[in-house]
Amino acid sequence: MSGKNGFTIWFTGLPGAGKSTLAGLTHEALQARGVINVEVLDGDVVRTHLSKGLGYSKEDRDTNIRRIGWVCRLLTKHGVPTIAAAISPYRDLRGEVRKMVEEAGGSGSFIEVYVNCPLEECERRDPKGLYRKARSGEIKHFTGVSDAYEPPYAPEVVLHTDRESPEESVRKIITVLKKFGWI
Ligand code: ADX
Repeated sequence: MSGKNGFTIWFTGLPGAGKSTLAGLTHEALQARGVINVEVLDGDVVRTHLSKGLGYSKEDRDTNIRRIGWVCRLLTKHGVPTIAAAISPYRDLRGEVRKMVEEAGGSGSFIEVYVNCPLEECERRDPKGLYRKARSGEIKHFTGVSDAYEPPYAPEVVLHTDRESPEESVRKIITVLKKFGWI
């Protein structure tokens, strides 16, 4: 790594697609390569602090994503490799965040990783039991069931967590990071 600029790896995808898991594994893979000062911003965690009190309307999700994006921008500007994992369902907001980070870190300082997993498989996994609650109407505006998810048109990386191993997924990310000269 040049050490001059940081970078942001932005995971997007449906609930249960594997964003947090892969963000964690990518973090470990970077550490194993000597990239040690990595920061991870996970939507679930951010919502207990920086975005505490926000809900799941488009407006609140946009605010959440802007906040996460803002922190990514600051960290990237100061040379910190940053990993964000949030549903980030709206294309326009992901584009806004990309722009924000690239303004601070230069072009190519942001990569979007689409954690692509069919809805049926996410729902089968249902790690937090939220799909079940969404189907029963207990949770409203649940992404993939009763709220929008707009897949990216041109993500730098696409992972298929229903048919590739986590190791394969991480390898794909590492390959792109090498191509970009980040590691
Ligand atoms: S985002 O839409 O603003 O990007 P974020 O990734 O921060 O979402 O948070 C999503 C997490 O909130 C999910 O993993 C889930 O645990 C929880 N959650 C609670 N209600 C909802 C909902 N209506 N839609 C999606 N996620 C929800």
